[in-house]
Amino acid sequence: MLIKKQKLFFLANPNNPTGTYLNKDEVLILRKKLRSDILLVIDDAYFEYIKDPEYSSGIDLFSKSENVIVTRTFSKIYGLAGLRIGWGYGPKKLIKKLYEIKPPFNVSRPALFAATQAVLDTKWLNKAIEHNNFWAEKIFDVIDEIGIATNRTNVNFFLLNFDFVNQSANKVFNKLANSGILVRQMDVYGIKNSLRVTIGNSKENKKFISVLRKIFNV
Ligand SMILES: Cc1ncc(COP(=O)(O)O)c(C=O)c1O
Repeated sequence: MLIKKQKLFFLANPNNPTGTYLNKDEVLILRKKLRSDILLVIDDAYFEYIKDPEYSSGIDLFSKSENVIVTRTFSKIYGLAGLRIGWGYGPKKLIKKLYEIKPPFNVSRPALFAATQAVLDTKWLNKAIEHNNFWAEKIFDVIDEIGIATNRTNVNFFLLNFDFVNQSANKVFNKLANSGILVRQMDVYGIKNSLRVTIGNSKENKKFISVLRKIFNV
């Protein structure tokens, strides 16, 4: 719902924790329908994962726009969340304004160094995408076989709903935790009886599949 005083519209595309996204045409319609003085901020955190040719990242769509800012992070596909580094792209006059209010403390030099090296390493990036695609399929098949409701994921996590199986999200959360697997509870998002599971490395994924099978006797 838009309000008269609205100044900002944030769009995480793809979204967390649903993993869903608006395609290129839908984002363009959104920008068209928003008043032009409302700044659209597109969070591109998971864009590298999307294979759908109908999808376009915020930067691909709005590299010359005067009322869109796009944010990117090294926390997802690059696996550098511990370095706390990301970047943003937008019209010069808005970036200048941001610098007027930004605190003086910047990202660290080691983080900057790692991030600039990471963007050059496209081979590693493609490997990470391939790894994610491979395990997204494998994990989906098991979840589907058990009967837990979810979508084939477009990103590096699944949102699982436990309404149609004989164990609640809470129960499964505790059983996974007892095996050393920590997933995200969704109550804080207002999403009932659900968990979010992030795709990990091969060892972690194998363990998750095996523990989940045991929990549901499948
Ligand atoms: C949509 C979205 N944007 C941004 C972030 C966080 O990025 P950062 O680690 O750079 O703060 C997350 C992390 O969970 C996210 O899901």
